[in-house]
Parts: sequence; C-alpha cells; structure tokens
Amino acid sequence: MGIAYLKEQRLFKLDTPGTTYLMGLADREGFLGHVYYGRKLEDVKGAEELMRTVEGPFTPEKNNRDRSSFLDCFPWEYSSHGVGDFRESSVRVKDGNGCSAVLLTYLSHEIYKGKRPLEGLPATFGGEGEAETLEILCEDKSLGLRAVLSYSVFGDTDVIARSVRFENVGGGELYLEKAMSFCMDMDNPGFDVLTLHGSWARERHMERKPLGHGKFSVSTLRGETSHQEHCFMALLSPGADQDKGEVYGFQLVYSGNFLMQAEVNQFDSVRVTAGIHPEDFSWRLGPGESFQTPEGILTYSGEGLGGMTSSLHKLYRKHLIRSPYLHRKRPILINNWEATYFDFNEQKLLDIARESAALGIEMLVMDDGWFGNRYDDNRALGDWKVNEEKLKGGLGKLVEQVNALGLKFGIWFEPEMISGESELYRQHPDWALAVPGRTPTLARNQYVLDISRKEVRDSIMEQVFAVLHSANIEYVKWDMNRPLTDLGSAALPAERQGELYHRYVLGMYEMQERLITEFPNLLLENCSGGGGRFDPGMLYYSPQIWCSDDTDAIERLAIQESTAMIYPLSAMGAHVSVCPNHTVGRNTPFETRGFVALAGTFGYELDITKLSAEDREMVPRQTAMYHRFHDLVREGDYYRISSYQENHAFDCFQVNGPDGKEALVFYTQVLNEPNRRSRIVRLKGLEKDARYRVQVVSMEDDELLKDTGREFSGQVLMYGGLRLERLWGDFRSQILCLRRVEP
Ligand code: GLA
Repeated sequence: MGIAYLKEQRLFKLDTPGTTYLMGLADREGFLGHVYYGRKLEDVKGAEELMRTVEGPFTPEKNNRDRSSFLDCFPWEYSSHGVGDFRESSVRVKDGNGCSAVLLTYLSHEIYKGKRPLEGLPATFGGEGEAETLEILCEDKSLGLRAVLSYSVFGDTDVIARSVRFENVGGGELYLEKAMSFCMDMDNPGFDVLTLHGSWARERHMERKPLGHGKFSVSTLRGETSHQEHCFMALLSPGADQDKGEVYGFQLVYSGNFLMQAEVNQFDSVRVTAGIHPEDFSWRLGPGESFQTPEGILTYSGEGLGGMTSSLHKLYRKHLIRSPYLHRKRPILINNWEATYFDFNEQKLLDIARESAALGIEMLVMDDGWFGNRYDDNRALGDWKVNEEKLKGGLGKLVEQVNALGLKFGIWFEPEMISGESELYRQHPDWALAVPGRTPTLARNQYVLDISRKEVRDSIMEQVFAVLHSANIEYVKWDMNRPLTDLGSAALPAERQGELYHRYVLGMYEMQERLITEFPNLLLENCSGGGGRFDPGMLYYSPQIWCSDDTDAIERLAIQESTAMIYPLSAMGAHVSVCPNHTVGRNTPFETRGFVALAGTFGYELDITKLSAEDREMVPRQTAMYHRFHDLVREGDYYRISSYQENHAFDCFQVNGPDGKEALVFYTQVLNEPNRRSRIVRLKGLEKDARYRVQVVSMEDDELLKDTGREFSGQVLMYGGLRLERLWGDFRSQILCLRRVEP
C-alpha cells in the first residue's frame, strides 16, 4: 500500500496490495486525467502517455483552437459540466447568474497516513498503519468553488475509496445540483456490465449484458437503496467469469437516492460515474459552506468476480462494520412475525420462548405489533408505547420472564414512519413528508416522517430510548417499510427543498448513530420490507441486515448468492420458516431450510409451538450445527463454486475457515432429475498438498458430523473436483465438512 506523487511525470500513483491506480496532470491548467487502473505496476515510466494527450486534439496548451474536442475526449478524473465535455458530468453548480458550468482544475495536494471520517456519513475507515489518503484540491476560480477529491487505499484489500468535498470560497451563493462521488474514464475492451435488480421478496438478482454505446444506469429515486436496483455495478472484460478475467466493481456507501452509470462514447471509452441521484437534488452552498458527497468504492480484480468478492468482503469486515458483534457469535434468534403477525400477547410470546429455550434457541425477537393500538398495519406508527392490553404486566415483566427462561430479548421498531391514525400524527400532522396543498401518497397505509428535522428525530429517539431503557433489550430490528414520496418539508425554505432527500438520509444516519452510542452493546439489525435497504451505508451501523422477506429456501439461493457476491455472510439475516412458505407456498425439507439459513446469521421465523414432531426434533440439531460452525461461517473466506442463477439447477459455495483446518461446502440441488450421474465441482482456496477428510453434516441423529471415509488431496479437490451424489427428492441440500488431515 502506498501513495506517491511522481513529480517529473506529474503522476499520482496509488498502490493497493495487488493493484495500481494512476492519475496525471495533463496541462499547465491542471487538468486531472485518469491514466490507469488495474494489475499492480512497479515501473510506470512513460505511463502518462495513456492519457493520449500526445495525439490530436492535444491539450489546450498545445492547441486551444480545439479546446472543446480536448475536453470531450480527455479521460477525466472528475468530469466538468457545460464547457465542452458532452459526456456525463460529475458536478453541476448553479451560480448567482443562474448559469451552471463548472470546470475543476488542480491546485495542490496532500498525502497522509490513515483516513479521515466523512462528516455525518458512513464511510470506510483505517488507522495510520492501515490506510493512506490522497486529497487533491481543485478549483473553479470563476465560480469560487473548491473541491477536494479524496482517494484512500488500504494495506489489506484491493479497494480505492473515493469521495468529494465541495466548498464555496467565493462571495456569492451557489447551488450544487449534481455532486457525484466519483468518475472514472477508461477504454472499453468490450465490457459486460453486471448489476443486481429485483423487487420486494425478490431482491438482488444478477443481470449481465454487453455494455453498448450510450448510457446504461442503475438508480433509485425511492429515498432508500431499494429492492429494485442495487448500488452496485461491475464491468467484466470479455470472457471474465468467477475465477478469471478482469473485473471492475463499483459501489456506494450510501442508503438513499443514487445513480450509477456507465457511458460508452464515440471513441469507445467508458465513463463510470456514481453518486447521489441528481434528480430532485439541489444543495445551497452559502459562502464558506461545504458539502460532503457519500463515499464510492472502486475495486479491480484480475481474478474474476471471486477476486472482487474477496476484496469487498475484506473491506467491509475490516474497514466498515463497527459493531462489537462483528466477530462475536450472533445469538440464534426466533422472530414471531411469521408465527403470529399482529395477533399475539405475552402468553403467546412466552409459549414460543419456553419451547425455543428447550430447543437451543437463544433470543426471542418481538416483531411489529407490540405498541400503541397496533392491531394491524393501518395504525400506530409513531406511538412507541407498549400496548399493555397485549402485553399484560408490561414490557419489563415480559422481558424478565423471557430472560428467566434463558433467552435474550429483542424488539422491532420502525422509527422513520408515522401512521395517519396515531397519536403522533394527531399532534404533529406537519411531521409527515408532504407537499403543501397535496394529499401525500399512502404506502402500507403510512406516511414517512420528516426526519430531516431535529425535533422529529429527538422526539422519536426519546421514545425509542425510553422503551429500550425500560427492560433488558439486547437486540433491535430497525425497519423501514415504504419508499419516500411527496418530498416536502414544513421546516425547509423553498430554496432548500431540494436538499430533503439527502437530509432525510443524514437524519436517519444520525438516529442510528445515536442509538448505537446510547446502547453500545446492542445488536442492531437493519431491515426495509426485507432487503430494501441492504447497502454498505447501513452496515456501518448494523453488522447484519434482514436479507429478504422471502424466507423460502429456494428463493433465497439467488438472493443470498448475489448478496454474498458483495457482502460477507455474517451480514445476511437468514431464518428458517414454516412450509408451505408464506411468500411462495413452496414446501421444502426442514433440513434444507436450516442449511440455507446457516449461510447467514441463522435464526427462526415460525411458531415453534406448532412444529411437527419431526421438524421439532431437528431444531436442536440445527442449533448445534450453528454452535459448531458459526465462527467458520462468520470469519471464513467465501468462494462461489457454481451459480444457481446461471445453471438453474443447483447452488454450490464454499467457506474456508480462517485457520485452514476446516472448510464447508454448501450444496443445494433444486429439482431432482431422473437418470443423471453425480456432479463434480471444483473446490477453491484449499492447500494443494494437504489432505482433507470428507464428513457430512447430518440432521438424522445427534451425531452432527458423519465420516464418509473419503479423503482427498487439495489438488484432487481443486483441480479434479469433489463428487456430489444426487440427492433423493426435490429441494434437497447437503453440507460437507472438509477437515484437513494433520500429518
Ligand atoms: C417488514 C419486515 C418484516 C416484518 C414486517 C412487520 O416487512 O421485513 O420482517 O418485520 O415488516 O411489519
């Protein structure tokens, strides 16, 4: 890891363990251009030529006659607006004249050890020995606007974190109308673009297609990262796959409206830009005021998607997730949502808790419906007072009883919302987002609170804190069940309404920060109608996020595969639920549901008092399995072996324990087919010369691991493969444990 400015070449060289990122100053005017991003370079002599300023239209210094042509083909590190580059701009600023042109040029730079936090925003972090940062100060003199382009590298992962801070250094008011987190120009070798799309209960499915001329983007205007499109984009060189080829991965550490775009231009170069979606965004910058963009993540892998996954997992585990639970065992929880929905009382919860305790479950989570007159989802959001008709004796008593059974207790909140039918709304109708004179649009019969306002945040957090202080509550599920519409705040002047989307996100981050500061040992799980706000920004506050409301084991294969392509398994909320599944009506074996949930945080979402004797008998075996393997799954290295989304037949991945002694191979065969032979899959990341004993995780009796008598070298398993028997029946799953044989 290291950052250097090579004075003679006027090049900035950023090194990560396996990659190099180069930028150059191209002209006396200080144009900052992209030179190279890829495999590590030791000797970069002459590399500045890659900016192509030695050929026509040349730089303005040599040929100002074709300044516009230069601006329109130069590989910018942060593109301008309105002065001749007709590709996607990175920034647009309205000045006092109502004009919006911007061109930022280099002024100075600073290189320092470590990484500074981004004010009010989640961001990756690294201490002095772990990260290094380059800040390039740029200016547009005629606007009186300065921008600090920030680049950080890390010593242990191939990632570059970028962001931009703007400052109004002139005398007049400016309006930032677009402020992307990063821009990168490079040649297009015939990239495919890979993105994740979905819907409620169908989050994050992969889509790969050729990148053509014009603009391709993923975005959201829902005020949250969304179920529909994910803040992720990868460019894959021709032929790149899981294990080989070049992959550029891009992400945003942000949880609101975003735009990520890849544009292929007339010269077949590609420009990637990402940041806050400029639609409905405008930020007033008074003299002396500044604005910080969210952070963008860039990663390059020369070893296919697997290399990208490994870099992102390292980044998020070592430089983003802060929770004390990051490396701690997450208690096996049982959540009552699918068990009872709104129809529960303290007796019902205690019945569930009693049964759970007997079977090895460690925490009861009381979901939606415990507060105000919340008998259904039409009311009471905002009234965070315990409903003592349902919970007779109050929350304190319930929690004591649950604790006495040996279980921890967790609770659900939806702090960003307000029901029309609630005490809070009767008192403060202006606290809901609304456009004056227009009835706000309902979603799930609720409105969104205007948490850009401090008094709103204070009032909600006061209520949340009172509940959490009233009993021994060790876990919170923070939900958010509708997108933002009717963007209007009663507290903002007309010229600042364009700030509302972003102010909302900042307000939400501030509330979460307050929560984990007040309760440092709390286990926080974020959620948004399932996985509608699963993003790096939220992981800064919570070590895990509910992956999807779809708990069907087969539906989860694709959702978890794509989620795990980016995020560590320890971040994925995954539970065993009942069949027929509540979302798709499918019946899958209880065993399969347990194996699929083990790839996440593991828990239950069902009425355990109503399980069949057979399933009930398996619960202690499943919990024993979690106790045996939780640290391997949480801390291990993840490898995708075969993609169900590609082969449509089976799912297979591997997790190698950090000490190399054990690895788990997760295999799910979706439909059985007649007269087929076994499957041979090539394993990854093993020691070539070590030998591995194959055991199978068994749910048949209390002996968790059954020896198969099979033993192979790492070479055979990686280059030849592991033979997987066909499993009898549909939706069958198997976990194999490979134990290194010690000499
Ligand atoms: C969302 C969550 C569910 C559950 C319900 C409660 O849909 O994703 O898990 O908490 O809200 O209303």
